[in-house]
Amino acid sequence: MTLISALAGKHIVLGITGGIAAYKSALLARLFVKAGAEVQVIMTPSAREFITPLTMSTLTGKPVITEFFTANTGEWHSHVDLGLWADYFVAAPATACTLAKMATGVADNMLVTSYLSTRGRVFVAPAMDLDMMAHPSTSRNLATLEADGVRIIEAASGELASHLSGKGRMAEPAEILEVLERDAAHGCRLAGKHVMITAGPTVERIDPVRYISNFSTGKMGYALAEEAARRGASVTLVSGPVTVSAKHPSVNVIKVESAQEMLDAARRAFDTADIAIMAAAVADYAPETVADAKIKREKQPECELRLTANPDIAATLGAVKRHGQILVGFALETDNESANAAGKMARKNLDMIVMNSLRDKGAGFGTDTNKVTIFKADGTSRQYDLKSKAEVAADILDAVDE
Ligand code: C5P
Repeated sequence: MTLISALAGKHIVLGITGGIAAYKSALLARLFVKAGAEVQVIMTPSAREFITPLTMSTLTGKPVITEFFTANTGEWHSHVDLGLWADYFVAAPATACTLAKMATGVADNMLVTSYLSTRGRVFVAPAMDLDMMAHPSTSRNLATLEADGVRIIEAASGELASHLSGKGRMAEPAEILEVLERDAAHGCRLAGKHVMITAGPTVERIDPVRYISNFSTGKMGYALAEEAARRGASVTLVSGPVTVSAKHPSVNVIKVESAQEMLDAARRAFDTADIAIMAAAVADYAPETVADAKIKREKQPECELRLTANPDIAATLGAVKRHGQILVGFALETDNESANAAGKMARKNLDMIVMNSLRDKGAGFGTDTNKVTIFKADGTSRQYDLKSKAEVAADILDAVDE
């Protein structure tokens, strides 16, 4: 039986940069082509010192692009067209220099301009000397790229071109192929689906200048929205006030302020949603009345605030959920984590709940990382390592996919 690769028919831009691991890019291109993908190679000028364009164009059946235009014919190579064409953009090997340029948008070569124009999924496989790999500037650039939604295919440890031993070897081509195939297999299933996500805090007004809220920044919900959009879903992101923003054109952001407004918007979107993920930190209470004018300390030395419980958006949607709709909740816990999460899943009629504990360093509000355990209604659960929120978003959507 021949298994058809999930990469069959996909368009891959393979960006090759100037590192010794570039010799492995030939094998990688070959694996992509064998999987049925169309591969367009872009090489940086220094990559051509390590492996010839002839090798790459022979393997892929397409002329290699390095320059913005061909000098003798004046033919312009459109990075915009390439960006639109590419389902995947893979920089392998990705040198410290290219990672820095990608992280900061230094678009002085065809590879980085194409990256900036890419709407598809982006992967980088770093390869460099161990000290460059461990340098804070490389870590910073990788963290920036991750926050921008780029997937890092971790370098391995072992002997390096410098004959030193440490972390910096490019992941093996077979591993890079596997990462992309897994991604493509999952991506297909979300394509064309409508995903509704709530994100951020809600803000409950006390008077025209004051409110009750919480420390949620919306990072987790926005990472989920970007990831779902990158997998081909159309996303409605119902968001409380946050400073983060959504980049992907398939993410439609509906800005709301209070829990009641979030409920109204979420209910409307849920009508046509295949999947709903409740990542918002909805304020549990709102002031019973909102003062029309600013409450003055001079006039009111003592001020009593009466609060009433807000509607539970997840539970409201859980009560009207139709067959086939998937509803996912979050549980941010400080103690009795598993029991609380399982209880919430049942109470709100959720299909899955993503639990994070404030006891775990790097998890919860405001951080760029999260550490979660996913519980499913069938009684199964899985614990994940501390990861970037972009990677956690991918894990959550993989779990939904399953
Ligand atoms: O009960 P608790 O607030 O811990 O439940 C968390 C889950 O329920 C999250 O998915 C959150 O977005 C959702 N929720 C909601 N509306 C509320 C409170 C929580 O949708 N009023």
